[in-house]
Amino acid sequence: MSVVIRATALAKHFGGLAAVDDVSFEVEAGEIFAIIGPNGAGKTTILNLVSGLLTPTAGRVELLGRDVTAASPAQRCHAGLGRAFQVVQPFPEMTLRENVLVGALFGTPGLSRADAEHRADEALEVTGLTALSAVDAEDLTLMQEKRLEIARALATKPSVLLLDEVMAGLRPAEARDAIGLVKAVRDQGVTIVFIEHVMPVVRDLADRVLVMDHGKVLTEGRYAEVTQDARVIEAYLGKEDAA
Ligand SMILES: Nc1ncnc2c1ncn2[C@@H]1O[C@H](COP(=O)(O)OP(=O)(O)O)[C@@H](O)[C@H]1O
Ligand SMILES: [Mg+2]
Repeated sequence: MSVVIRATALAKHFGGLAAVDDVSFEVEAGEIFAIIGPNGAGKTTILNLVSGLLTPTAGRVELLGRDVTAASPAQRCHAGLGRAFQVVQPFPEMTLRENVLVGALFGTPGLSRADAEHRADEALEVTGLTALSAVDAEDLTLMQEKRLEIARALATKPSVLLLDEVMAGLRPAEARDAIGLVKAVRDQGVTIVFIEHVMPVVRDLADRVLVMDHGKVLTEGRYAEVTQDARVIEAYLGKEDAA
């Protein structure tokens, strides 16, 4: 198995706060890898360190065997890293196809218009948006916006896609759609790293789970294993049940 993402002793301090502290993990090609943990555990900060939006205080990020710790987000995108955000921000007055085209063109400098259009149409197909290609992005439902956000990331032809709470705000039926969508993306050969609060979604999707608490890795393993771990129940599930 080849390693797509390797984080080694990653740390990020904000002033006196160790938001991420000595975090190491590996994500293998073809995996669906979940990062879970209570609010403020450092999950989003990890994705920001992996995608290059933040520079680590210490540690290293490798993407497909290459050290990208000092690389910009755009360089990491070109190296195969795609990202969909929790708060979706499409260009409202552009059609879905135009929005996805922007993703294709951004992902590969020098890509011909025809190739970009081909990629955009593929990404729309995988995300089930072909019939809506000509619709303006401002007219979408929340679920359609999430699909568009994933289509835009897919159009950059990523080897690995980072998803930060893409299920947030979805109704149960929509969440089931979204689970199907993430699996469809993985079946295209894309490795997935996702942050998720909804535990049944983690159970249904994740091959492996990294559990964070207060900036540190609490444990890592298969869903059935980590959810039996007393520290995890204490730190995370207990709080969720009490909420
Ligand atoms: N840009 C920032 N400046 C200062 N503190 C931050 C910043 N980003 C995150 N934090 C803090 O770091 C901790 C981890 O945040 P985050 O990674 O967003 O957690 P999670 O995604 O697990 O909820 C929190 O205490 C948060 O308040
Ligand atoms: Mg977060």
